[in-house]
Amino acid sequence: MERDADEVHAPAETSPESDAPAAPSTSSTINDSHQQTPPPQSPAGHEKSSDEDTEDQGDGDNETATASLHDDDSTLGEADYHSETATLSSDILRYREENGRTYHSYGSTEHWGPNDEQAMEQQDLSHHLWTLVLEDKFFLAPVTNPQKVLDLGTGTGIWAMDVADRYPSAEVRGIDLSPIQPLWTPPNCRFEVDDYNIPDWGVESRYDLIHSRELLGSIPNWLSFLSKAFQALKPGGWIDCAEPDIHVTSDHVQLPDDDPNQQWVKLFREVSVRSGMTFEPATQLKGWLEDVGFVNVTEKIYRVPVGIWPQDPKQRTLGLWNQARLSKGMRDFTERRMRNFMGWNDDEIDVLIARSRAAVHNSNLCTQQNL
Ligand SMILES: C[S@@+](CC[C@H](N)C(=O)[O-])C[C@H]1O[C@@H](n2cnc3c(N)ncnc32)[C@H](O)[C@@H]1O
Repeated sequence: MERDADEVHAPAETSPESDAPAAPSTSSTINDSHQQTPPPQSPAGHEKSSDEDTEDQGDGDNETATASLHDDDSTLGEADYHSETATLSSDILRYREENGRTYHSYGSTEHWGPNDEQAMEQQDLSHHLWTLVLEDKFFLAPVTNPQKVLDLGTGTGIWAMDVADRYPSAEVRGIDLSPIQPLWTPPNCRFEVDDYNIPDWGVESRYDLIHSRELLGSIPNWLSFLSKAFQALKPGGWIDCAEPDIHVTSDHVQLPDDDPNQQWVKLFREVSVRSGMTFEPATQLKGWLEDVGFVNVTEKIYRVPVGIWPQDPKQRTLGLWNQARLSKGMRDFTERRMRNFMGWNDDEIDVLIARSRAAVHNSNLCTQQNL
């Protein structure tokens, strides 16, 4: 894409198409210090950071850690590769344990997904599916040689590492609430603990590509989030957002009235309202991108099978991987939200998950999902 001097372009897997850039209205302060992620290991293995004394004055909950880190250590801003704050506060590493799973402790908002080994495997399955869908591309934005790349909510960091490998001259940065990324990364890739829901990222005109994927249910204010990304992009830079539509439907079969796929959507609409973080950004992203001033917005929707019902080998492979990631992720997507926002008990949750998994494996339903 050609750079326009005064425009920040913003594309997406939803990518945009208007001509009127309107500068978003976030202010910026550049902050140099950051928390670099260490290898995933037990909290006891980590050095205490310089701010920890301050943080420990509170009750050790994440609000205390968050306040301190936001004041001093936001990493979305300037890079400082020689920072001396390359240790993590033990508060960040003291994961929350709920029902045998672990969850992040850092951040201004609560993410629905666990951050343990099982969740990481699920994220990597998902990455494989997206990569198959995009036919071995990692983004659709027409950026041919990205130099400064930011991956928001990087998860296991697999996307960021793949992009760093493919573009060795690029500097790729992934941020997440959970320091679950590997220690050994391509030399041009780095991971940091940070929160994209803070009011001000403290960065302006820095990146030529910003990527976000599967952040549904984790953002209270998408317009604010996208405005901050707009601000963080260089003029002419691109954003590439990839979100799954949570509706699993069928073009071939009339789904039964009690289809768990539909029940799940209804429940997660209610969870979206109660948590204040929508699980349905996919269908709204294009409008939001335009609303905050992005231009050349293009939306690309892939209709992907769920399961191995298609005859076509390529579609069948996509369906297999989609089935695998949904089946493996069903508990991760569901458990915390249903317990904490809907007040469901273990049995109710188990039944919902079992029924939803069975539906994902029911090839007679010939189901599909938009990515
Ligand atoms: C479903 S995972 C997707 C991971 C990755 N983007 C991918 O597609 O492989 C969502 C990720 O967003 C992270 N996340 C949620 N809220 C966040 C926040 N406020 N700031 C930074 N990361 C956040 C979670 O910790 C989790 O790793």
